[in-house]
Amino acid sequence: MDILKYLKTNAKRIDDNLDKYLPPEDEYPDIIHKAMRYSAINGGKRIRPILCLAACETVGGKKEDALMVACAIELIHAYSLIHDDLPAMDNDDFRRGKPSCHKKYGEAIAILTGDALLTHAFYLFSKGKNPEQNNKILEEISYAISTFGMIGGQVVDMLSENKLPDAPVLQYIHTHKTGALICASVKAGCILGGGGEKELDALTKYGELIGLAFQIVDDIIEIEGEKGKMRNSDIEQSKLTYPAVYGIAESKQRASRLVTKATILLDEFWGKNTPLYQLTELIGNRGY
Ligand code: IPE
Ligand code: IPE
Ligand code: MG
Ligand code: MG
Repeated sequence: MDILKYLKTNAKRIDDNLDKYLPPEDEYPDIIHKAMRYSAINGGKRIRPILCLAACETVGGKKEDALMVACAIELIHAYSLIHDDLPAMDNDDFRRGKPSCHKKYGEAIAILTGDALLTHAFYLFSKGKNPEQNNKILEEISYAISTFGMIGGQVVDMLSENKLPDAPVLQYIHTHKTGALICASVKAGCILGGGGEKELDALTKYGELIGLAFQIVDDIIEIEGEKGKMRNSDIEQSKLTYPAVYGIAESKQRASRLVTKATILLDEFWGKNTPLYQLTELIGNRGY
């Protein structure tokens, strides 16, 4: 399987469907609809929705059945990034190489755009055809982005600026602010693909491993890659990150151990044929 082609085709599929699901940009009051599109359809990697589609396929489902939920998950991610970039939080002027939402539209509209994307995501979840699956997805996603998940992680991330390195707190931040939604994306795909209990258990464990690995790699890229440029760095903000606690070399080792565990788990259940297998390696080695 050509995984880069898989990523490209599915990112385009997500973009095309986001375009379809989001309100038209000339709809009154147009500024908010323009801002929603500006922040959601602007070249993200689409890793969460792609993981959702791939998990759905892995358990024998059809990608199409997971498409709307996958798009809704990406809207939630876009909301989280808009709020994360606000002056009161990470104060980042750029996102994906372009002015962040508040720089382009002002803070009030940026806050409302985040709110609107989150709300629209739940509207899309409500449109699923299977009520039992809908309920499960609502439960998984709302928990993952709640104060027990992403919001909790963001709160502790903010409270930990300028604090001494603390490994358990760091673990909490990364598994919650980023790991929880990534894991829930995989679980949602499994549910929509009709996966059984054992498959859901395995993919939950898998999602936890790659969710944490993803944020560790993000911390490393912030220091070594292009991403950090033009942005308010983790170091300037004294963020609690993997490199801050373990150093770069050990952070890389830890990420790679998580990825290895995740690939072993996939191999045991589905062999190397699932798109998740190569996606996992890519998450561990991404230089982007
Ligand atoms: C960035 O996420 C923020 C994190 C939670 C690590 P991504 O690296 O998925 O960002 P995009 O969507 O591709 O821009
Ligand atoms: C973002 O984490 C996590 C969420 C938005 C939930 P970071 O603040 O570390 O991500 P970047 O570096 O801004 O993309
Ligand atoms: Mg942040
Ligand atoms: Mg940030």
